[in-house]
Amino acid sequence: MTLPGSPFLAYRGDDLHLEGVSLKALAQAHGTPLYVYSRQAMLAALAPYQKALAGRPHLVCYAVKANSNLAVLQTFAEAGCGFDIVSGGELARVLAAGGDPAKVVFSGVGKTRAEMRQALEAGVRCFNVESTAELEVLSEVAAAAGRTAQVSLRVNPDVDAGTHPYISTGLKGNKFGVAHEQAVATYRRAAELPGLAVTGIDCHIGSQITEVAPYLDALDRVLDLVEAIEAAGVPIHHIDLGGGLGITYTDEAPPAADALIGQLLARIDARGHGHREVLFEPGRSLVGNAGVLLTEVMYLKPGEQKNFCVVDAAMNDLARPALYEAWMAIVNTSVRQGDAPVWDVVGPVCESGDWLGRDRALNVQAGDVLAVLSAGAYGMTMASNYNTRGRAAELMVDGEQVWVVREREQAADLFKLEKRLPR
Ligand code: LLP
Repeated sequence: MTLPGSPFLAYRGDDLHLEGVSLKALAQAHGTPLYVYSRQAMLAALAPYQKALAGRPHLVCYAVKANSNLAVLQTFAEAGCGFDIVSGGELARVLAAGGDPAKVVFSGVGKTRAEMRQALEAGVRCFNVESTAELEVLSEVAAAAGRTAQVSLRVNPDVDAGTHPYISTGLKGNKFGVAHEQAVATYRRAAELPGLAVTGIDCHIGSQITEVAPYLDALDRVLDLVEAIEAAGVPIHHIDLGGGLGITYTDEAPPAADALIGQLLARIDARGHGHREVLFEPGRSLVGNAGVLLTEVMYLKPGEQKNFCVVDAAMNDLARPALYEAWMAIVNTSVRQGDAPVWDVVGPVCESGDWLGRDRALNVQAGDVLAVLSAGAYGMTMASNYNTRGRAAELMVDGEQVWVVREREQAADLFKLEKRLPR
């Protein structure tokens, strides 16, 4: 059986392993639902980015929102990465994990003044600003703190990334970025404001992108702007092309990161911009296929119209299927011989939308441990406590070594900040 995604995930005999570790054994030892990440898979996903960018000024800023576990951030920090953050909370995580604030870019359409102050104090490298209103507030906050905020404007290149509407961000109708037509004027304004220093330009056109063309289109639009902005007298140091490279969940065939970057750099050089520093903000492509969610089969409910396989993980653990109708592979961690009936794999949460996979051919019995694949990105970070369910534990494996990188939440953890009325 071929599995989508990671070469670090494979059956040894009948037993699915991530790197050198049996997933069923991990589920038995640590309980389910359980997220398990491969450290080597993450580093292997980073390598083509670094290889393609070697020899020129660059920074790979891992997008923390994809998976913000401290051990994951530490892995990327130790490998030389910077970080793309979207909140003060993510900044705190990066610092706690040992990340270098001077390699942090702060994105997001709604940064608060408190977050701006926190980031200035930490000394982040740059703010990716999304509107004139935000520029003015940032300038005020920086001036009051006696600091200068380095800024890059996120421009909206108005290209269609050809991905799910919820995760497509580079079209005119999106809330993100400064419209292409207003970019030059907005840069002029930024250059006038006392608390700011313009340093770069940035765009991010969407997520789970599986083609090179939208990136090249966006790059051309960005380079047009760089030329116009510099002609207006505002120098641009770096170009940040965002994240968005897709992964294989089923049969998608996204370009390899080094192939994509090779084409982008060739275009940058051909247009005479080869001296500029280049930044990327990959999230999913670094961690998505490095992680699985393990869940135990609790009950089989064969029915007239549908067969339901009720597992102990739910939409609160993994929201992507319920939220985007995302298809994520589900396999049994122990191979069984014989027929594989078709099941809807559903969780215990009281919502019909609580499913992890529909119409899946699976040879399963109660007590089996299933693995939802490609769950390393936007899995745990989007988990909630709906139905007062504690969030899953998280493990990191490296070869045959296993570390618990987050304990399972207990019920008392979930209401410890709440208070009964005084009576
Ligand atoms: N930079 C910015 C400004 C972003 O907004 C994002 C993702 C990234 C970088 C990283 O993009 P990536 O390389 O991971 O595609 N929850 C959705 C994905 C939302 C992505 C939001 N922005 C999902 O589960 O598919």
